[in-house]
Amino acid sequence: MSGEREVNDQSHRTMRASLLERAADRWQLGPKPGMPPVAMPDLPPAPPVAPPVAAPVATAPARKMPPARIRPVDPARIDREMLAEAGMLVPGGPITALAEEFRLVKRQLLTAAADVEKRDADAARMILVCSAQPGDGKTFCAINLALSLAAERDLQILLVDADFAKPDILDRLGLPAGQGLLDALGDPAIDVEALVIPTDVPQLSLLPAGKRTHADTELLRSDHAHDVLKRLLTADPDRIILFDSPPALAASPAAVLASLVGQTVLVVRADRSSESDLREAVALLDGCEEIQLLLNATTYRAEGARFGYYGQDAE
Ligand SMILES: Nc1ncnc2c1ncn2[C@@H]1O[C@H](COP(=O)(O)OP(=O)(O)OP(=O)(O)O)[C@@H](O)[C@H]1O
Ligand SMILES: [Mg+2]
Repeated sequence: MSGEREVNDQSHRTMRASLLERAADRWQLGPKPGMPPVAMPDLPPAPPVAPPVAAPVATAPARKMPPARIRPVDPARIDREMLAEAGMLVPGGPITALAEEFRLVKRQLLTAAADVEKRDADAARMILVCSAQPGDGKTFCAINLALSLAAERDLQILLVDADFAKPDILDRLGLPAGQGLLDALGDPAIDVEALVIPTDVPQLSLLPAGKRTHADTELLRSDHAHDVLKRLLTADPDRIILFDSPPALAASPAAVLASLVGQTVLVVRADRSSESDLREAVALLDGCEEIQLLLNATTYRAEGARFGYYGQDAE
């Protein structure tokens, strides 16, 4: 396990700490169970501090606000029983060993994100969950990470199904798939933000993969893809976008996605991933400067899921 990054310059941070820096700082200090909740994410932001562009974050009178957020009235209901059956985190459920493990992963990611932010503020808010081969646990880890991150105060998590050939996210959460990222990438007339699905898990929303096309890699590489991602980032300044990726060695969109995000979590299945696969995957994903390895379970049992986590900079 390579270590956590120590953050030394506390005074500098407190002067003008960004969203990610604040989140990372909080984790450096550890969670504070006794602290009263600060602002609820859906309440209007505190007026004087928020930058002018970030003002219309409130949801209450959403219809009258500038068109930053377009939301259906009812949030989609995530099926907790399905989550429990699959051995995943259950929002509002007990603090399990799995929950603790994902809290550690989250802490690493937020700390690294605060670092990435110094060179690229947009990229710092985008994280790709990838693996070398199919079936290594990308979707399992992406959903658990999203749920864990959504429990952070201040953050809004958008989980994007970017495994276009095998979109699983909505299905695993007990929700029907609909229009999504590919549709918005393929048609500039579609406002991607209108396809975002708010859920009944506070601070968690979803973006489906959308209608399959053979041009997914090309669409991701296009200039319009940058506009689409920018739209998702600016629609909510508190938003972190987590992408569930296709496997790096089996599908070309993974490498393109890696070049767009600030960090890639490479899920390694302890009992199966070979070193040569990992090396090849890291080489393919080298458009991303921060690749972190996440060691997934050797035995898949709801009671016994174990994770190891260690960071590694891409060579
Ligand atoms: N740590 C774990 N504990 C319990 N079950 C797990 C764990 N990791 C993965 N699984 C299960 O293993 C199966 C494969 O995992 P998952 O679908 O997340 O892999 P994937 O990498 O997304 O696969 P694909 O490349 O096909 O999309 C799923 O049924 C998932 O619930
Ligand atoms: Mg998957």
